[in-house]
Amino acid sequence: MNPLTTTLTLHLLVCMSLTATSEAAIKMHRARVVVTNYLNGGLDLTIHCKSKNDDLGVLVLHPHNDFEFSFRPNFWGTTLIYCSMSWDSELHWFDIYIDTRDLNKCNDACRWIVQEQGPCLFNRTSNKYDICYPWNQSSMTMKNIN
Ligand SMILES: *[C@@H]1O[C@H](CO)[C@@H](O)[C@H](O)[C@H]1NC(C)=O
Ligand SMILES: *[C@@H]1O[C@H](CO)[C@@H](O)[C@H](O)[C@H]1NC(C)=O
Repeated sequence: MNPLTTTLTLHLLVCMSLTATSEAAIKMHRARVVVTNYLNGGLDLTIHCKSKNDDLGVLVLHPHNDFEFSFRPNFWGTTLIYCSMSWDSELHWFDIYIDTRDLNKCNDACRWIVQEQGPCLFNRTSNKYDICYPWNQSSMTMKNIN
């Protein structure tokens, strides 16, 4: 082996072990999600969240009450947690946790408020709930599945 090849080989080994370390760190990381009812008019929010493997159950949140859960995002970064949210005669769906969307936006927790128009995520830069998303458009199909 000439010196150049040796250096390259060593370099490659270092890169590989760094990758392994950061993957382990991601795997250990626990994510927290907090959802608060911000509907107008004193409405209760009924929320039912699930992932592929877990069902977090049906909860009724009174105005300004919140609900919190934590979990370990999967190794592959494909963790998805979705919720149905309803009040009066309305029923909507929203993906409350998507790794690729949320991982870099949340500090200790991903904090959401739920309003009639849709959920808004807490923005750690502006200190406001100003990262707002529309309800999931495929609501009708998912409603039938459930
Ligand atoms: C968070 O707030 C900052 C400051 O207002 C803004 O520049 C940024 O775009 C916001 N982040 C997101 C993801 O909307
Ligand atoms: C709606 O939900 C489906 C199924 O969970 C998901 O694949 C899709 O990305 C969601 N769309 C939006 C706009 O959130």
